[in-house]
Amino acid sequence: MAVALISWFLVLFSSFHGCYAQIPPNISLGSSIVAGSNASWRSLSADFAFGFYPLASGLYLVGIWFDKISERTLVWSANRDNPAERGSTVRLTLPGQLELRYVNGSTQLIYAGAAASLGFMGNDGNFVLRDANSVVMWQSFDFPTDTLLPGQVVDELTKLYSNEKGTVDYSTGNFMLEMQKDGNLVLSAYRFSDPGYWYTGTLVTNVSLYFDPKTALMYLVNGSNVNIHALTKNISIPVEDYYHRATIDDHGNFQQYVYPKVNGRNWERVWRAVEEPCFVNSICGVYGFCTSPDNETVSCSCLPGYIPFDPNDLSKGCHPEIVLNYCADPSIRNFTVEVIDDADFPFEGYADLARVRNVDVEGCKKAVVSPLAT
Ligand SMILES: *[C@@H]1O[C@H](CO)[C@@H](O)[C@H](O)[C@H]1NC(C)=O
Ligand SMILES: *[C@@H]1O[C@H](CO)[C@@H](O)[C@H](O)[C@H]1NC(C)=O
Ligand SMILES: *[C@@H]1O[C@H](CO)[C@@H](O)[C@H](O)[C@H]1NC(C)=O
Ligand SMILES: *[C@@H]1O[C@H](CO)[C@@H](O)[C@H](O)[C@H]1NC(C)=O
Ligand SMILES: *[C@@H]1O[C@H](CO)[C@@H](O)[C@H](O)[C@H]1NC(C)=O
Ligand SMILES: *[C@@H]1O[C@H](CO)[C@@H](O)[C@H](O)[C@H]1NC(C)=O
Ligand SMILES: *[C@@H]1O[C@H](CO)[C@@H](O)[C@H](O)[C@H]1NC(C)=O
Ligand SMILES: *[C@@H]1O[C@H](CO)[C@@H](O)[C@H](O)[C@H]1NC(C)=O
Repeated sequence: MAVALISWFLVLFSSFHGCYAQIPPNISLGSSIVAGSNASWRSLSADFAFGFYPLASGLYLVGIWFDKISERTLVWSANRDNPAERGSTVRLTLPGQLELRYVNGSTQLIYAGAAASLGFMGNDGNFVLRDANSVVMWQSFDFPTDTLLPGQVVDELTKLYSNEKGTVDYSTGNFMLEMQKDGNLVLSAYRFSDPGYWYTGTLVTNVSLYFDPKTALMYLVNGSNVNIHALTKNISIPVEDYYHRATIDDHGNFQQYVYPKVNGRNWERVWRAVEEPCFVNSICGVYGFCTSPDNETVSCSCLPGYIPFDPNDLSKGCHPEIVLNYCADPSIRNFTVEVIDDADFPFEGYADLARVRNVDVEGCKKAVVSPLAT
């Protein structure tokens, strides 16, 4: 009886001081969650949960999400391109691996390395597997999908990919943020071998992107952890009153957001990499044309003479109305040349475009009609 009382006081004492280290929400070997059960592994603060995130399609992603806010924003996923049906299981197996088992019996090992001995959903949103000596064997922070959280570090060669469409389709989308080996942090439309439409130009060795949990600012650090380039310059709010995340979105922008912990209604942007949305390469696909009336929304159309691949989604790009073999028959080179004012074609690699330099409209016509003469 006396012993029980003493330990009760110890627990009380430690919780008064906000120190919960003795009672972490450890996930023991053999624990599992079934898709559709509503069960999850929550962080002690209950801010984050690990489990099956339900999709509008009725399928589930093994993931981590902000659990207290009504939108339950997904921040990480293990199977974004292969959602699981109701009844699938995620399990910290007895041999110490993390396994997703689909209902048809096929499995995906999320962690397949040396035996872990417990899992832990941290208050920072990082799901960590440790071995018997408490050494970190695996952590979700090392495998970002499209989102970064405070405390997260992006080392060289790490890539984040946008999703396909907002909260509708979380599968891998068209845009990539890469912490390159040369030190440059680059956003690109990687499917079009795009060299990039936004970059930091920080060409020094051993650069990492750091999302500072104290200040909620993102910056690049060099090998001696010296801040060499600020991304977020300044957020004028009490850091601890807000949730924070930075996400590369389906329009190819990399943006940082805050959400008030009390009475929050939505994520508010505090920083973005690209200020003019049309500067995102191939945002309207091949031969698509982007306009933005307000630097927020994007509207896609086709260049004159081109029609959309998908009339319901102009961002998928366009193709010529008719295809003629101009090379075989020079007599059909009866082109009309149209001038589009105030337009940019940022790079030439992804469509069969060529640049004719230092010419006026007449010079351009000549070059188009008889390309061999230029
Ligand atoms: C959680 O795991 C840690 C590290 O192994 C251990 O020290 C602690 O006692 C465990 N807590 C519980 C409640 O099991
Ligand atoms: C899960 O939660 C939803 C919404 O709260 C509820 O409709 C559903 O019955 C729950 N499912 C289970 C298996 O508890
Ligand atoms: C099992 O289901 C998953 C998810 O639907 C699918 O990716 C996988 O190919 C299926 N495996 C087999 C053997 O049918
Ligand atoms: C890069 O930096 C890390 C610390 O941030 C250090 O451990 C590592 O040795 C460095 N590597 C090189 C090649 O400088
Ligand atoms: C990091 O930057 C600081 C300040 O410019 C410099 O003194 C230091 O040598 C750099 N470290 C590395 C590993 O380049
Ligand atoms: C931070 O931003 C606020 C407005 O958003 C501005 O008033 C303040 O001067 C800025 N601080 C710094 C250090 O730039
Ligand atoms: C969009 O932003 C750019 C750069 O900040 C600015 O020059 C331009 O006027 C803006 N356009 C609109 C429609 O606000
Ligand atoms: C251009 O030539 C093509 C092929 O000879 C022909 O079908 C088309 O009508 C011509 N267009 C114009 C504007 O002359």
